[in-house]
Amino acid sequence: MRTTPRCAGRPVYIRSLATYVPPRVLTNRDLEKMVDTTDEWILQRTGIRERHIVDPGVATSDLAKEAGLEAIRRAGLTPDDIGVIVVGTVTPDMMFPSTACLVQHKIGAHHAWGFDVSAACSAFTYALTAGSQLVAAGCHEHALVIGADVMSSIIDYTDRSTCVLFGDGAGAVVVSAAAAGEPSIIDFEHEIDGSGGPALCMPAGGSLRPPSRETVEQRMHYVKQDGQTVFKFAVRKTEEIARRIMERNRIKPEDLALFVSHQANRRIIQAAAEKLGVDQGKVIINIERFGNTTAATIPLALNDAINEGRLKKGDLVLLCSVGAGFTVGSVLLRWGY
Ligand code: ACO
Repeated sequence: MRTTPRCAGRPVYIRSLATYVPPRVLTNRDLEKMVDTTDEWILQRTGIRERHIVDPGVATSDLAKEAGLEAIRRAGLTPDDIGVIVVGTVTPDMMFPSTACLVQHKIGAHHAWGFDVSAACSAFTYALTAGSQLVAAGCHEHALVIGADVMSSIIDYTDRSTCVLFGDGAGAVVVSAAAAGEPSIIDFEHEIDGSGGPALCMPAGGSLRPPSRETVEQRMHYVKQDGQTVFKFAVRKTEEIARRIMERNRIKPEDLALFVSHQANRRIIQAAAEKLGVDQGKVIINIERFGNTTAATIPLALNDAINEGRLKKGDLVLLCSVGAGFTVGSVLLRWGY
C-alpha cells in the first residue's frame, strides 16, 4: 500500500467557494401528493425534508455559472484569470458539447480550457483532484472546479424509491497556488469499481441503448438503483477510503476539524462516521434542506460549515464520496482561507 501522499508539485489551496441552488423548493409534503410516500418515511430513512428543483429550461450550466462566477469574485479574480475549468456532473446540458465549454462561454473565461468529469456522486472530489493537480504541476495559476447537477432532469417522479432522494444544485471552488507554509491540499485517494455499475445507472440514452420509442416507454432515461446495495457499499467504502488516507498521513479522527461526506443519506454518513470514530459534532449533515445533489453536495456542505462558523483557515478537513460506477473518493486538506 502507498505510504506517501499522492499530491505532487507545488502546494495548492482552495481559495474561495460559492454555491447556488434554484429557488423552487420541493418538500416531502409535495412528494406525498405525487407518489405513495410520507414525510415521516422520507425523513426517517434518508434525513431529507426538502430539495431545490429547477424550473423548465434551466440547465446544469446555468447553476454552474452562478456558483462559478461568485467563486471567482470571492477569490478576488476575474474569469480571464482562470486557466482551466473542470465540471463534475452526471447531468450535462447535452451529451456534447461538454458542460465545461458551456460554462466557459457563459462566464466569459476567455483564457480557459476545460472538461467534464463523470463520476456521479464522487464528481466533486474527482474534479477537485484533477483541477488542483493541474495547478500543482504549474500548468495553470487558477483552476475553477465545479460540481453541478440537475438531478430532476433524470429522476422518475413516479418512482418513490428514487424521486424522494435527489435535488438540484451547484458548488464551485477556485484552486490556486499556496504560499509557502500556508494551508494547502494534502492528499487524495480515489477508486473505481465497475462491477457496481448495474446497481445505480441510467440505462438508456447512451451508445448502448440510444433513445428510441421503446427506451422512452420503458422509462429507461431515468435513474435506476438497487438502494440497499448502494447503501451498504457507501458505508463500507466511505469508512475504508477515509481510514486509508488518514493512516497514510498519520492522522487520527480526533485531529479532524470537519468530516464532509457526500450527502446521499443521513444514515450512511452517520454510520460511516461512527465506524471511523469521528465525533458526530465534526460531521456536516445538511441533506435535510438539499437532498442528494450528486456533484454539488460537498461544496454545499462546506458552504454551510463556513456560514455556521464551523470552518476556519488552517482546519484539517476530510472530504469523502461514494457514487455510481462505483466511484470512491477522498481529499484531505487544510482549509485555505
Ligand atoms: N416512501 C415509502 N416507502 C418506500 C419509499 C418511499 N419513498 N421507498 C421505498 N419504500 C418502501 C419499499 O417499497 C419497502 O417496502 P416493502 O418492505 O413493503 O417492500 C420499504 O420501504 C423498505 O425499502 P428499502 O429499500 O429496504 O428501504 P431502505 O431503508 O433501504 O431505504 C433508500 C431506501 C433510502 C433508497 C436507501 O437504501 C438508500 O439511501 N440507499 C442509498 C442510495 C443512494 O443514496 N443513492 C444515491 C446516489 S449514490 C450515492 O450517493 C452513494
